Amino acid sequence: MKVVFLGPPGAGKGTQADRMAEALDVHHASTGDTFRQAIAAGTRLGRTVQQYLDSGALVPDELTSRVVEQMVVEQEESYILDGYPRTLQQALDLERMLTERGQRLDGVIYFDVPEEVAVERLTGRLMCTECGANYHRKFMPPADNMICDRCGGPLKVRSDSSAAVVQERLVQFRQKTLPLLTFYEERDLLERVDATASPEEVSERTEQLLREMVAPQRRC
Ligand code: AP5
Ligand code: MG
Repeated sequence: MKVVFLGPPGAGKGTQADRMAEALDVHHASTGDTFRQAIAAGTRLGRTVQQYLDSGALVPDELTSRVVEQMVVEQEESYILDGYPRTLQQALDLERMLTERGQRLDGVIYFDVPEEVAVERLTGRLMCTECGANYHRKFMPPADNMICDRCGGPLKVRSDSSAAVVQERLVQFRQKTLPLLTFYEERDLLERVDATASPEEVSERTEQLLREMVAPQRRC
């Protein structure tokens, strides 16, 4: 399985990619998580990307596509790309990487939420500092205050959750990522999910779509 999860920041891509990776035994590849881990580890990649993440800007296409090619496309057979591609250039880069290897995408899922819902989700989001699991103060609270249900690690607010940075991330999404809907519609790869529903309902619909995308009749 090779699929892309698209949507505005806060749509729930990471939450659903985590669940689907576990349910369907595929690799969850998040460029945002990769960049945050590099920053936490103080690597050269981390030092280069920090300014972009802190301001809500996108990391340059060439660097982002190189990271995805080396860390995902070259390494993994089956994956969900969460948060990549995010620009038309990145979509073309991905198409090239796959074509060069005689591969193709099975599909793209767009997680559709209005901006006001995305903002409410982003400003209440909590993240485990150890395993990266996602929570929300109101919508998906941890069982124990500020402790991860999964690994017991401490939870924190993500550094790009301030109102100003969230607004900038939404601007970037509108300008650079929304045009990908037409790109993937033209290739007959796009499916939409109403991501305003509960996490369980969104998971049910997403899993159904993923199973259809890789069903044998679709590949004929
Ligand atoms: P990234 O980490 O990818 O952030 P994002 O796309 O902006 O998306 P988020 O992670 O904020 O939201 P999400 O859709 O994953 O929602 P989540 O599941 O967390 O990117 C961060 C930065 O890295 C970018 O700004 C950029 O600088 C850089 N970057 C990354 N990829 C790049 C690329 N390809 N090119 C260039 N730069 C790149 O859910 C959000 C909240 O809502 C959580 O609290 C969750 O608990 C809650 N929630 C989830 N689902 C539901 C639901 N159904 N109902 C109620 N609450 C819900
Ligand atoms: Mg995410």
